[in-house]
Amino acid sequence: MIKALVFDAYGTLYDVHSVKEACESIFPEKGEAISMTWRKKQLEYCFQRQMMGRYRPFDEVTKDALHYACKSEGANSTKESEDALMDAYLKLGLFDEVEAVLRKLSNKKRVVFSNGSKNMIEPLVSGSKINNHINMVVSADEIKQYKPSAAAYAHALNRLRVEREEVLFMSSNTWDIMGAASFGFHTAWINRNGVQPETLDIQPERAYTDLNGILEWV
Ligand code: LAC
Repeated sequence: MIKALVFDAYGTLYDVHSVKEACESIFPEKGEAISMTWRKKQLEYCFQRQMMGRYRPFDEVTKDALHYACKSEGANSTKESEDALMDAYLKLGLFDEVEAVLRKLSNKKRVVFSNGSKNMIEPLVSGSKINNHINMVVSADEIKQYKPSAAAYAHALNRLRVEREEVLFMSSNTWDIMGAASFGFHTAWINRNGVQPETLDIQPERAYTDLNGILEWV
């Protein structure tokens, strides 16, 4: 039986590209490109640091990725403009269905498990409309191992105090949902953008276009 619902944050509950408006207001006509490059580099730097054994917290990785994105799009960023955009990352928009779905799951342990460092993920959750519907926030920074490493999911399981098979993990990020499936959690891929499944030897159990689909599990 599923006892814990574990949600990835960025891209799954919160729209990382809701910073596009903030990027556009500071760098007109470059907002979309900066936002896309920012997210791409943020993930790349996480994976590279994990493989190199050069872990740095997600806020530093996110800042480094933002600086790269501004430079690559020819935007002359300053400390002030980068600080303003990092602040926008603490106020990302929730996807439309998230609050209503979480409200229906009040009989389950509802957990956010993110690569986000505590100084990013905790203010994001506590400042959002789902704060009262989340029982626990787990950060990969607690173990300094990024998802999709097995150690990261093992840490989350240790915090949850349930059996591995009692966890349903949800993410929109294919690298994350495959990491969770490889670790042995039940998995539901929230394929918000209708992208093609990866061609790897590990696949999520279910795929849905948004979080409403998980209601069939509980
Ligand atoms: C998260 C992003 C990085 O872990 O997917 O919340």
